[in-house]
Amino acid sequence: MPQPPPPPRRAHPYGASLEGLLSVALEQGGTALDRLTGCHPLDDRDAALSLLRIHDLHLGPLDPTDASTRWQHHPAIAGLKWELEEAFLARLDPAGGQGLPGATEALPHDPVAAMRAIAAFDRVPPLYVWLAEDADAASLLAFLALEGGPDGGFDDLVAIGQIGLDEGPKLELARNYWDEMGRGEAGAVHTLLHRHLVEALDLPRIPRRDQPLAALERSLLGSLLATSRWLQPELLGALGLIELQAGPRCRQVVSGLRRLGLPDGALPFYEEHAGTDPRHGKDWLDHVIAPLGNDPVLGRRLVQGARWRSAVNRRFLMAVAEHLGPGAEIGATPPSAAVAA
Ligand SMILES: [Fe+2]
Ligand SMILES: [Fe+2]
Repeated sequence: MPQPPPPPRRAHPYGASLEGLLSVALEQGGTALDRLTGCHPLDDRDAALSLLRIHDLHLGPLDPTDASTRWQHHPAIAGLKWELEEAFLARLDPAGGQGLPGATEALPHDPVAAMRAIAAFDRVPPLYVWLAEDADAASLLAFLALEGGPDGGFDDLVAIGQIGLDEGPKLELARNYWDEMGRGEAGAVHTLLHRHLVEALDLPRIPRRDQPLAALERSLLGSLLATSRWLQPELLGALGLIELQAGPRCRQVVSGLRRLGLPDGALPFYEEHAGTDPRHGKDWLDHVIAPLGNDPVLGRRLVQGARWRSAVNRRFLMAVAEHLGPGAEIGATPPSAAVAA
């Protein structure tokens, strides 16, 4: 028997963006929130901006003047979050991920070996070599402003990722977090080192609305995984991949900063990651991926998170490379070279 057609989606009043409607609803609360039910984004960009705004309710800085966090779990917000995230994940992983770097069938069965293979796939994309050897200062600064560090928000993501773990994996996330906290030294906390970099280079803060979609979706993956308990394995895999790739990439950025004679205050953040992330990556494999990956279902999902992160970061680097001038193709390792890696 044919099913009745689904109810029509509610059109936006006056063609307003979902993000705009959401901002108003979060400010006004009450029936304004109820009116969000059935609304949908104008396009992928509107979807990403809306979802990031919702994730802010979960992960944003503590701000007692921000009353909108009261609506974090309002049914209209929860429903919107669910719908937008499902659509994002479907776009991220079409047809079982066949289009993602390191399609499942090409990866080793062992999760540790699979993570290593994904990391090697485009460990140092040509864009980083260009930043180290050829880019002018304006291009390097524009890259750094958009990148926001190799691991923006990493400390909070690690803190959330450790919930419900025990033994070795819990300890490893604690050690990693402690390094993020400068091993107890206030001046060495990574977010502070990044602030010093921003000040030393006078980097502009680029509002979300001015960022390319690929940059929004790169942030979005982290906040989506961190606010979705059912995706905790994928979060752990994605964080592991960040650690595995950050060291050699940061070394290239340090070379670029030195070559261009940029202020010394810019160096400690990238030097720290160039030095410690190779160890973080190895320790994450040994103490998080290996033990958790003994469970075959968990193992596949850890690897899946790494593949997702690889995909969004690859798109981000291609978009940045195009934006900066040398062309999208240098934002990613060519497939032929990646296969040989
Ligand atoms: Fe860090
Ligand atoms: Fe790290």
